[in-house]
Amino acid sequence: MPDVDELQRRFRSLAETAAPRAPLYSLLSSAIAEDREVVELLTAAPATQQAPVLLLAATHHLVLSGVAPDLAVHYPNLNGGDASASDPWPAFRQLCSDHADDIRALVATRHTQTNEVGRCATFLPVFAALARETGRPIAHVDVGTSAGLTLLWDRYGYRYQPGPSLAADSDVVLPCGVRGDAPLPDALAPRVAGVGLDLHPIDVTDTQATRWLEACVWPDQIDRFHRLEAALSVARRSPPTIVQGDAVDDVAALVRDAAQLGHAVVTTSWALNYLTAERQAEFVAVLDAVGRDVDVSWVAAESPEQTPGLALPHPPGTEHLTVLTLRTWRAGSVSTTALATAHPHGYWLHWLSQPT
Ligand SMILES: C[S@@+](CC[C@H](N)C(=O)[O-])C[C@H]1O[C@@H](n2cnc3c(N)ncnc32)[C@H](O)[C@@H]1O
Repeated sequence: MPDVDELQRRFRSLAETAAPRAPLYSLLSSAIAEDREVVELLTAAPATQQAPVLLLAATHHLVLSGVAPDLAVHYPNLNGGDASASDPWPAFRQLCSDHADDIRALVATRHTQTNEVGRCATFLPVFAALARETGRPIAHVDVGTSAGLTLLWDRYGYRYQPGPSLAADSDVVLPCGVRGDAPLPDALAPRVAGVGLDLHPIDVTDTQATRWLEACVWPDQIDRFHRLEAALSVARRSPPTIVQGDAVDDVAALVRDAAQLGHAVVTTSWALNYLTAERQAEFVAVLDAVGRDVDVSWVAAESPEQTPGLALPHPPGTEHLTVLTLRTWRAGSVSTTALATAHPHGYWLHWLSQPT
């Protein structure tokens, strides 16, 4: 169990690493680090969850719920303001005193969770190629789906640079810088079905749950925050289908069902890093078993260094990046190729000249 001294060290460390890209969280983290009473709030979380970002998500959640208007003015995602214009600490400290019990309850029961809709821009070329290859519409199974936003790739627009723009009049348009010879599609692949699987699914119609998802986005990341809000609005019009369950134990049945409807495409994006290396290997083994019976494709957007159990190929020096990998099972024969590296939130795609 980390003690308060250790948590203070964690806040100091976050203050340093966040400084270049997240001035508000950097400033708040250095002030929190010197205030043992505020740091102590984080000890209400389970030992493995006691990361400074959890406390910052809990306070952001309260800010989003409207209880701290004096603090909200300092959050760039809420007012586009400059966090350095005045000192947010007195209002932050006040929130921590006034809502200590709420903060303790949030950190005790929630864990940081995200859903990055921008990753759809990196999947799209692969979906188009798979639909062309198999002559079948995509029947999508997204594992570790969170709120299911990446299942809804056919409701968003895309602006590849350089490259085509697709459905650019959508309420959510995803820009994606491209390097290399990516097979960018000029139309969306046909999609026949989509289902998500998650241990802790988020219901897009539950405003408390989606507020937590929004609270986990750093307020300095203004574009990311607004993009999530817009994607949630799109999703609420016709919510995605999500099954609660485990990636390893429950994926096979969903893939077999999907294969009845179209070409079964499994996606995982920054999800399998939550599994132990042993469970990661079991996940691959489960898909291998299904792939002996039906044709399947699995598109992974994962970090090789965080998913050693997947044993997916990747070019040297890309361990710490998001690597887009395609594993296919066709008539029982397996093939695996690293296709590209990508920005973790899909803002760029670098297609490999020699897929490995
Ligand atoms: C970082 S989020 C990524 C969400 C989404 N794939 C995306 O790209 O935005 C990871 C998700 O994986 C889920 N997850 C973690 N372990 C899981 C497991 N064993 N089975 C199913 N889902 C799991 C978490 O609940 C969380 O929603």
